Amino acid sequence: MLVFNTIESLQKHISELPKRTSIGFVPTMGALHKGHLSLIKKAEKQNKITVVSIFVNPTQFDNAEDLVNYPKTIEKDLKLLQSVNCSIAFIPSVKEIYNENIYSESFDFGGIENEMEGKFRKGHFNGVATIVKRLFEIVKPTKAYFGKKDFQQLQIIKKLVEIKKIPVKIKGCAIFREPDGLAMSSRNTRLTKEQREAAPFIYKILKKAKKKFGTKNADTVIEWVEKKFKKHPILDLEYFLIANEDTLQSVNKKDNNKKQRAFIAVYAGKIRLIDNLSLN
Ligand code: PAJ
Repeated sequence: MLVFNTIESLQKHISELPKRTSIGFVPTMGALHKGHLSLIKKAEKQNKITVVSIFVNPTQFDNAEDLVNYPKTIEKDLKLLQSVNCSIAFIPSVKEIYNENIYSESFDFGGIENEMEGKFRKGHFNGVATIVKRLFEIVKPTKAYFGKKDFQQLQIIKKLVEIKKIPVKIKGCAIFREPDGLAMSSRNTRLTKEQREAAPFIYKILKKAKKKFGTKNADTVIEWVEKKFKKHPILDLEYFLIANEDTLQSVNKKDNNKKQRAFIAVYAGKIRLIDNLSLN
């Protein structure tokens, strides 16, 4: 595996590859886990080479404390990348990416950026789109891989590519879960033992909500979920809603002709956890 820290060295290497070498790209913020590895394995199957970036992007954090406390496990990450035969790791510094201008570009994604995570994490998607656009310009991938764990992010990236006419194919990948159902996340390592034991409740509730939405409208299901969390001693609900997958607008009735999905954000102490589940 080759490791590059500068844009110049990465681009020099890529420019020396045979023409039309298909490049799979998996952008990450490190603290890698099996969820990330599942994206990397998919990229490797579908491309000649795979580039994984590790960059904790300051402009997408709405909370300074969350940025400072974001887990950093670079040595372990490199070993994991080697274990899946990743071709290239790109690990730039903040200065390399942003120089002195650590700001987000402002994007108009037609409204999907204002729903859910956009409501609760101001500026988050401008930060995500800024860094992903920048990384696409640097790596120039054929295909790029994003997890449905961050479903709204995946939809934003599809819109970004459409609006900015970036020649890359965006691939959505299934959510990878712990055996007890908790969606894998770099933030899970920050949970206390008690919080970690409580966290699978989130996926359990999603599955029960899916069953209920077969016979009850969304308002009733939302009320039921809110009640469940009010009684919970460890987890605090930020939002639970049911939305159309494309517009991310809330829906009230089940419609088998439209793709509908339940979305949830929960706090365990200061750690924010998100998850979602298809309702079709
Ligand atoms: P990060 O949270 O490190 O996630 C990198 C990629 O892995 C994202 O596409 C995310 O959706 C995916 N992922 C994380 N956990 C997953 C799981 N349990 N199952 C499947 N996929 C999972 O998302 C980001 O970084 C950043 O916002 C980034 C896109 C790198 C821009 O900074």
